[in-house]
Amino acid sequence: MTVAETEAMGTRWLPGDVTPRERIERIIRVDHAGEYGAARIYAGQLAVLGRGAKGDLLRHMRAQEQRHLDTFSDLIARRRVRPTALLPLWHAAGFMLGAVTARLGERAAMACTVAVEEAIDAHYAAQSADLGDDEADLRATIEEFRVEEREHRDIGLANDAERTPGYRLLHGAISVGCRVAIALSERI
Ligand SMILES: [Fe+2]
Ligand SMILES: [Fe+2]
Repeated sequence: MTVAETEAMGTRWLPGDVTPRERIERIIRVDHAGEYGAARIYAGQLAVLGRGAKGDLLRHMRAQEQRHLDTFSDLIARRRVRPTALLPLWHAAGFMLGAVTARLGERAAMACTVAVEEAIDAHYAAQSADLGDDEADLRATIEEFRVEEREHRDIGLANDAERTPGYRLLHGAISVGCRVAIALSERI
């Protein structure tokens, strides 16, 4: 059944339930927010480590995040989805997270990447499983980007993320932060 057909049934949806249209809007809104935040994290890391040994790796990931962001910005416009009101917050918080972890060192920056990209991978996996054939294009986009998010996570792991002092604590804190950011950006 397509979203339009399900919406036409109307009465299926109890007050307070999320309609199919709102479900898709939430997906596009939160993914746009996430890619925006991711691009800002890498910008923050590059501001500190751009001239270092990991500069090219960071630029590679930053470029991919920019393409993800451009795609979701386009979807926001074409499908007339309201972007999250929290973009100014993610603008500042993303850059700060990237810059602060980079200040702690290259390994801590990579630990940040592992935590963030794992969260995005799980988030995209859940969305992909949830989307039907009526949203095959959106699902394919999410799956395509998910492959690159996993690549970013693997780059972090291959660059000594886990050897960061306090790795588990740092990883845990950033994971919680990502989940909170995702929940807020779907709704607000
Ligand atoms: Fe991304
Ligand atoms: Fe990524």
